[in-house]
Amino acid sequence: MVFLMILLFSYLQTSQQIQKTMVNGKEMLSNPRLKPVQGTLNVVMNQNVTLSCNSDSGSPPVRYTLFKRNQKVSTLNRPDLTPSLFNLTINSASDLGEYKCKAENNNTSGGKYSNSLSFTLLEPISKPVLSSPTSQAKKGQNVTLSCLSENGSLPITYIFFKGTQSISSQVMMHKEAAEIVLFINSSSDFGTYKCRAENGFRRNAKYSNGFNFTLAEKFKPTRPSTGFTSTPNVEEPEDEVIYSEIMPVKPEEEYINFSVLRREDEKGDKRVCATVYSRVLSRD
Ligand SMILES: *[C@@H]1O[C@H](CO)[C@@H](O)[C@H](O)[C@H]1NC(C)=O
Ligand SMILES: *[C@@H]1O[C@H](CO)[C@@H](O)[C@H](O)[C@H]1NC(C)=O
Ligand SMILES: *[C@@H]1O[C@H](CO)[C@@H](O)[C@H](O)[C@H]1NC(C)=O
Ligand SMILES: *[C@@H]1O[C@H](CO)[C@@H](O)[C@H](O)[C@H]1NC(C)=O
Ligand SMILES: *[C@@H]1O[C@H](CO)[C@@H](O)[C@H](O)[C@H]1NC(C)=O
Ligand SMILES: *[C@@H]1O[C@H](CO)[C@@H](O)[C@H](O)[C@H]1NC(C)=O
Ligand SMILES: *[C@@H]1O[C@H](CO)[C@@H](O)[C@H](O)[C@H]1NC(C)=O
Repeated sequence: MVFLMILLFSYLQTSQQIQKTMVNGKEMLSNPRLKPVQGTLNVVMNQNVTLSCNSDSGSPPVRYTLFKRNQKVSTLNRPDLTPSLFNLTINSASDLGEYKCKAENNNTSGGKYSNSLSFTLLEPISKPVLSSPTSQAKKGQNVTLSCLSENGSLPITYIFFKGTQSISSQVMMHKEAAEIVLFINSSSDFGTYKCRAENGFRRNAKYSNGFNFTLAEKFKPTRPSTGFTSTPNVEEPEDEVIYSEIMPVKPEEEYINFSVLRREDEKGDKRVCATVYSRVLSRD
């Protein structure tokens, strides 16, 4: 008796399930899943993105329709249950979404709707500006360096370099400039400082201008120089140059560089040449 009851019960359950998923012997579609093929919803302006929409079960063929803010964008027919791929270009704020897709076959009246999703627009970072309230420094003085990218989605992560070596850990800032305080206690502190900024999108780190402190005393250049204080036309390294953060440290020697600008205007080609004189110091 109990056995028969169980049998009857499970038969009823199964037939209910069959009624739910089968119409005329064909399977209804499951709710489709909508997801970004590139794996992230973070985008920049003018980026091409692909959304994939598919139902895991149901009888093909399947017609998929993509909606943006409840308006039809396009329709794709799939002969099987493989995902349909919708290619989009993000050209304006309205292209960020919200998106949904619908799956239909002849056995699913009204179709089945997916989850919805929207893109987050990331603004690429602008070249950071490295500055200091004091451009002249003496030994024994504390100086402040600040680094700020004017534009770019927040938060922005900054790191400071002297030469090619990092001199700070990564600092994450939400709006303000990142700052470090340097205690100038040796001639090797007069190098070229830079900072790097990056935000959440791709690997789009940008490097700042180089910043040199000039020495307020001692260490005058050994050769007479013309225009020593103005170095406006010396080419800066490309933004994309990647400095290694783990540079081999050479503790025995330190260099101070002096640059001398020679303008060769008289030759007519207006070339600016920088000659770098290096002096080797031994550390005390
Ligand atoms: C984006 O796609 C369009 C065609 O839809 C193409 O013309 C353009 O070059 C693509 N842009 C990128 C960055 O791939
Ligand atoms: C979208 O682009 C992919 C390749 O990236 C391509 O296979 C697919 O057919 C495209 N879809 C449409 C609707 O053009
Ligand atoms: C339903 O069936 C008709 C004819 O059999 C076909 O033309 C139509 O594309 C089918 N609809 C879907 C959503 O597959
Ligand atoms: C420099 O800063 C350090 C740490 O903030 C401080 O201990 C020191 O007194 C400062 N020196 C000068 C000269 O301001
Ligand atoms: C920052 O964005 C504003 C507005 O788009 C623009 O005018 C300005 O030049 C940008 N600044 C930098 C450093 O790119
Ligand atoms: C310079 O300062 C650092 C710490 O800021 C210290 O380790 C080092 O001994 C100092 N060097 C001299 C020459 O005072
Ligand atoms: C800083 O000094 C280096 C030489 O040590 C020179 O090559 C560079 O152009 C200088 N940078 C600036 C911004 O003055």
